[in-house]
Amino acid sequence: MSSTKITIRSNGSMKLEGDFEIVDAAGNKYDLGGREIVTLCRCGLSQNMPFCDSSHKDKFHHEAVAFALPPKKQD
Ligand code: FES
Repeated sequence: MSSTKITIRSNGSMKLEGDFEIVDAAGNKYDLGGREIVTLCRCGLSQNMPFCDSSHKDKFHHEAVAFALPPKKQD
């Protein structure tokens, strides 16, 4: 079974690895050029959105610590 792992990095990007595809709002796939690992921007400063270009360095602060969301509301 294939799976996707998303790692939220402290003070930086989120790393995707495993089995995934990234599409735009219209559903068109980004050509990842054969990459099996990519990093997505969380800071909003990248000039290559949605991918991280390291512009976050020393400008974005968020300590990534896992936590539990509240239970999902029933419809
Ligand atoms: S997280 Fe790296 S440029 Fe935004």
